[in-house]
Amino acid sequence: MSKETIKIFDTTLRDGEQSPGASMNTEEKIQIAAQLERLGVDIIEAGFAAASPGDFDAIEKISQRVTRSAVCSLARAIDADVKAAGQAISKAKMKRIHTFIATSKIHMQYKLKMTPQEVIKRAVDAVAYARTFVDDVEFSCEDAGRSDIAFLKEICDAVIEAGASTVNLPDTVGFRLPFEIGEMVKEISDYIKDRAIVSVHNHNDLGLGVANSLEAIMNGARQVECTINGLGERAGNAALEEIVMTLKTRSDVFAAYQTNINTKEIYPTSRLIADITGIEPQPNKAIVGKNAFAHESGIHQDGMLKHKETYEIITPESIGLIKDNTLVLGKHSGRAAFKDKLSKLGFLLEDDALDASFARFKILADRKKEVYDDDIRALVTNEMTKAAQVYELISLQLMDCSGGVPSAAVTIKKDNNEIIEAGIGEGTIDAIFKTIDRISGYEGRLNDYKVKSVSKGKDALASVTVKVSFNNEPAIIGHGLNIDTMLASARAYIGALNSYLSMEGKLKSRYSDTSKTI
Ligand code: KIV
Ligand code: ZN
Repeated sequence: MSKETIKIFDTTLRDGEQSPGASMNTEEKIQIAAQLERLGVDIIEAGFAAASPGDFDAIEKISQRVTRSAVCSLARAIDADVKAAGQAISKAKMKRIHTFIATSKIHMQYKLKMTPQEVIKRAVDAVAYARTFVDDVEFSCEDAGRSDIAFLKEICDAVIEAGASTVNLPDTVGFRLPFEIGEMVKEISDYIKDRAIVSVHNHNDLGLGVANSLEAIMNGARQVECTINGLGERAGNAALEEIVMTLKTRSDVFAAYQTNINTKEIYPTSRLIADITGIEPQPNKAIVGKNAFAHESGIHQDGMLKHKETYEIITPESIGLIKDNTLVLGKHSGRAAFKDKLSKLGFLLEDDALDASFARFKILADRKKEVYDDDIRALVTNEMTKAAQVYELISLQLMDCSGGVPSAAVTIKKDNNEIIEAGIGEGTIDAIFKTIDRISGYEGRLNDYKVKSVSKGKDALASVTVKVSFNNEPAIIGHGLNIDTMLASARAYIGALNSYLSMEGKLKSRYSDTSKTI
């Protein structure tokens, strides 16, 4: 029996980036896009080109880099958005414009203040205009889950006629139950037949995003929109890894379908996203959570030892998880062994990036007795996603962290000049960050600070993630890694500053209404 391929449309870089606190710099987005391509997603929604110059820039660069997945930009159903989308993806080998307008009564009446016929006209005009840039146009009926089915048919007819080849039915507010999504998708698919591909985009407000997507596939959807780790607006989107692994694990039920996903890239992709956004999947999250393969009770462990399938329906290897977080390399390991390890962990680095990562590994191996896979993964991700280093930390000296006035002396290099400053603060972190502000002249407001240990042991690497807003602009994430938590904190703060400088002037939304999906 020949199988039907379900297209996987990944929107981690667009809807996922709309998760509170998940904004990424351009370099990070490029690395994520390259990993999504390795994972085998059919379409990468790389951003919303008209939202800000930073979004545009990232989509343009991703379009030049990715060749095996189609690159897509979101656009509201207005000319300026569609034009920005068309320009941003113009260099992509395979390209798509995704335009949308709301179709539910509540959105049309209160948000758009437009009649249904005006909405249809806007949709048709946007699709027709998008077709002047690309052949592949997707149209989304925002809030389809709460839209009138007769109106959905009418607008789908109109946009298909205007040139859309995919029509997407988002459950924008995550309101629907699986049987309701199934009925909607069946009715629209039977109506549209092979005039266009029917897609779904399920939000997870009631925890049903994945169930709804699977039900949609059973009823005619041939594209699902999803994100890694289920990131996305509010409670997030349907998680890619859960949809794909359900299709694979329950191939008895989903025998008629397949995806192009290389499931062994799921775990590396999930880690990359978690490391970059600083948003860890909950420990008991299906497929990629820390405990997803941990068997704690004696009865389960006994069963596992006797026969793995007693308690394991998916193998860790099938998602690319090397389970033991193996002890890897030591300070005597050479570049070739390091490169080999990286390729097993799913990293393919150019020579320059390999040299820089190897140099950092050597420094770490000198100080840390045991270097684990997680250490290597964190270190390489940190190296690859660094923005251009305008400021570089040379040294940090701390005085009186217990009782007296916390103070920090910081040496930073800029344009080959070393600048030294000392300052005090309410606490040690405050003293470090304020002193860095004094050197750079940029005032940062710290919105979030997280520290976690990358692997085990008292000498574990500390991974610090900060979210800082400079000059009252949207907050930027910075990462720092070091065995010493204070050094990692200083690096994270300077990382955020460098990232800010690489995006300066490109961060602010072009809209007075800052919500990205009107
Ligand atoms: O949730 C939603 O409706 C969206 C659309 C823009 C597809 O994200
Ligand atoms: Zn969405």
